[in-house]
Amino acid sequence: MTENSENEVSESQIAVHWREEEYFDPPPAFTAQANANDPAILERFSEDKFPDCFTEYADMLAWDQKWDTVLDTSNAPFWKWFGGGKLNACYNCVDRHAAANPDKTAVIWVPELEEDETVRISYGELLRQVNEFAAMLRDFAGLDTGDRVTLHMPMVPQAIVTMLACARIGIVHSQVFGGFSGNACGTRIADSGSRVLITMDGYFRAGSITDHKVKADEAVAEAARQGQEVDKVLVWRRHQGEYASATPMADGRDFFVDEHIGDYAGQVVEPVSQPSEAPLFLMYTSGTTGRPKGAQHSTGGYLAYVTGTSKYYQDIHPDDVYWCLADIGWITGHSYIVYGPLSLGTTTVIYEGVPNYPDAGRPWRIAEELGVNIFHTSPTSIRMLRKVGPDEPAKYNYHFKTMTTVGEPIEPEVWRWYYHSVGKDKAAITDTWWQTETGGFLGSTLPGLQPMKPGSCGPGALGIYPVIYDEDRNEIPKGIGRAGNICIRNPWPGIMQTVWGQPERFLDVYYRKYNSDPESKDWHDWPYFAGDGALEADDGYFRILGRIDDVINVAGHRLGTKELESAALTVPEVAEAAAVPVIDDIRGRMVEMYISLKPGFSAGPEMEGKVTKAIEVEIGKIARPKNVWIVPDMPKTRSGKIMRRVIASVSNFTDVGDVTTLANPEVVEGIKHQVQSAKVARGDTPRELSQTELAEIQAFGNE
Ligand code: WTA
Repeated sequence: MTENSENEVSESQIAVHWREEEYFDPPPAFTAQANANDPAILERFSEDKFPDCFTEYADMLAWDQKWDTVLDTSNAPFWKWFGGGKLNACYNCVDRHAAANPDKTAVIWVPELEEDETVRISYGELLRQVNEFAAMLRDFAGLDTGDRVTLHMPMVPQAIVTMLACARIGIVHSQVFGGFSGNACGTRIADSGSRVLITMDGYFRAGSITDHKVKADEAVAEAARQGQEVDKVLVWRRHQGEYASATPMADGRDFFVDEHIGDYAGQVVEPVSQPSEAPLFLMYTSGTTGRPKGAQHSTGGYLAYVTGTSKYYQDIHPDDVYWCLADIGWITGHSYIVYGPLSLGTTTVIYEGVPNYPDAGRPWRIAEELGVNIFHTSPTSIRMLRKVGPDEPAKYNYHFKTMTTVGEPIEPEVWRWYYHSVGKDKAAITDTWWQTETGGFLGSTLPGLQPMKPGSCGPGALGIYPVIYDEDRNEIPKGIGRAGNICIRNPWPGIMQTVWGQPERFLDVYYRKYNSDPESKDWHDWPYFAGDGALEADDGYFRILGRIDDVINVAGHRLGTKELESAALTVPEVAEAAAVPVIDDIRGRMVEMYISLKPGFSAGPEMEGKVTKAIEVEIGKIARPKNVWIVPDMPKTRSGKIMRRVIASVSNFTDVGDVTTLANPEVVEGIKHQVQSAKVARGDTPRELSQTELAEIQAFGNE
């Protein structure tokens, strides 16, 4: 059974209608200076030029040895890009710029507390720090090319130094988002086979320092439970010489970086020349089963793809000041804070804390003070900033030339606030649709050439040819208002190489559904299945509806329902658990948990608290459910499957649909009464849902 076969009824069967939005033309002043402002570029990436068109991206890099094959399909769909080529990612992101322009600022770090000083790190200084830490990784931690190492770091420049030091030696870094719990980190340590964990003692969030090192202890214990020993934990300190955590340092296992790095002062570690196909990093993401998937990204193909798309879509020039508010621990941070921007030799800004600390004007103050001219964030942050400070942007004198949005669909109304208020009608917006697995952008407008349309990401990115299929691989024509499963017909250099340690799952999840000949070596036979529902308008622009698998996108974070449910099931009293999405005006979606208890236990706030706590421990606070509903019985099919679409409809006050085929239709009314009257009492009733939101809820978890 494939991972997606449970979801036979997707948005594809539901006709969706929406109002066509009007176009916004790119501002002429922007187009005049854009990296991509000559329509000939569209010609260079036309389908008949595939795959050679992507050598334009590879040529942006410095190679130690040039590739001899652009695309090798002999082991389809495990594509090999730029085979025979050799390069080093750290060299490309640091050394070549440090040599040309050592004093140029590479990284600007803005600590959360406004009274703390902003830190500027030049390319020359970055090279020194990366070399010293690489020496420590090699000689102190005993790491070598090909080893995996897990990073659990907040938004500090040491996270960038650590990633690049790994890349310098060819150590495969696996960075876990700092907001994930110790247990979630431990699971990823075990899956990747890391014996070294790199972390930090604490960091500032909403005005106070959090204890982060405590999670390292939990992570190491969890990894050990899963059979993976960690023999060294390297701990960066937020304040050198001062320990921000209450947890003791384990003797012989935990080491403060600042107490040892001095031994490597001035050392130089030669960048290891890596085959294009060598893995650069793993990035874990959620899927339908409880076990997270480690998307494995390559060195040459990945770096070429993020460099090229940073240049043409983010419009990065070396003199720009680029600020992406995403977390380094997610794919957006890897591709579009670290690797893409630094490969182009620009200045990348990172900010430690929450965007509205200490007030809603903070992002715009930072932009003004640092001269940020490219801004990149998520719909959730935009919705939040709009809510807390709709008039704040007007008070500050900054000038954005482009603004990006990523991670979730953006409502046209929110888009317009972003355009008019944040961009002051002067910036081009790129709505970039892509995924952890895809390395870089798949759908977006080219900001200097293609008009924007609120709510649609745009056409396929350069060299990307999307298609929408129904369940039987019939192509759904554009412009008919019908949604289906969006796929990419061709491979591209940024695509992940495999799921770490689970090649079968890679095939199952992303390729089996629409592949008709498993022996085929022809890429035409292997469309990439993205797992999103989408529609294509007459103009070839795509509107992404959201996940069609059992994934809930909370504030741009992918949470698997199975992970949430298994976390709830760690509470001994819980018999059954089901996770469903509830529409939220700020975070897009939030999670609600439905729980039934084993006989003899009773519902109550204490039990609800236990479930919430279990989810925080197993996954992290980001997954904290909005509500936990303890119900006497779950609505089920005759084969015993929990009907998630029914409870999702209850949570969202939408029509529960036909329940007569359930084994126990009589429970639905009771659940509805229990949940909805509690919500009404709290004033938590939803606005009217859009057609696409309705479709998502009413098809949720269907089989
Ligand atoms: C969703 C984040 C609409 C989509 C880079 C995708 C989007 C999932 C957009 C990947 C967008 C991402 N418009 N939906 N511009 N960008 N998504 O792996 O459902 O964290 O499959 O990668 O986010 O999330 P991931």
